Amino acid sequence: MKLGVNIDHVATLRQARGTVYPDPLDAAILCARAGAHGITAHLREDRRHIQDDDIYRLKELQSLPLNLEMANVESIVEIALRVRPAEVCLVPEKRQELTTEGGLDVIGHFDALKETVGCLSEAGIEVSMFVDADIETLVACKDLGAPTIELHTGSYCDAEPNARAILLEKLIRAADHANDLGLKVNAGHGINMENLGGILCVPHLNTLNIGHSIICRSVFIGMEPAINEMLDAIQDYEG
Ligand code: PXP
Repeated sequence: MKLGVNIDHVATLRQARGTVYPDPLDAAILCARAGAHGITAHLREDRRHIQDDDIYRLKELQSLPLNLEMANVESIVEIALRVRPAEVCLVPEKRQELTTEGGLDVIGHFDALKETVGCLSEAGIEVSMFVDADIETLVACKDLGAPTIELHTGSYCDAEPNARAILLEKLIRAADHANDLGLKVNAGHGINMENLGGILCVPHLNTLNIGHSIICRSVFIGMEPAINEMLDAIQDYEG
């Protein structure tokens, strides 16, 4: 299984002071040195952390495949088509949220998403849909032609330990179903060392996208050791 590191929160620190450091590009270079398999950055409409220029620099000046997280809005789709990241992960976005809340309403926004998935795919970008563990939503992802889904693990990861079993069961069933539909399965949101054990029980996972917990750990031990810890922890995943 691959590890994608979400470096948004390096930009969060920079934006907090309006400085030019810390630079998410430097973080991406350290991710590559540590053996991560990709980097993720979310260009939010409110530009609260990652800026447009970061996305261009992350595409051009570092070696790891870039997964651009974004909402399905015209101005950001235009940027994605100019930058051509390896992958785009379409996510829902609300202005006031602290972080992405819930998966995409693929059924409710089917036509608009289908058009965007078509445009991005034609440009050679792998499109991933960030979705809750819901079977009808997975079928809709397949119908609109997206090759990949990212299962939203936040509900499971943020739940009290004794409430997790049922949520983990849902993730496992969804991953099985997505795999049966021929979709590539990734997962992310809220994953840390404490809840990782359950996530590793989810079958068919191709990539875990992890941000906040790795960046937090980096504050104390540095980025490369924090990434190495996570790579070690996922290395025995059997799918
Ligand atoms: N995947 C998606 C689609 C996300 O929106 C986020 C948060 O930006 C992540 C993964 C990473 O989540 P976390 O920062 O909680 O590890």
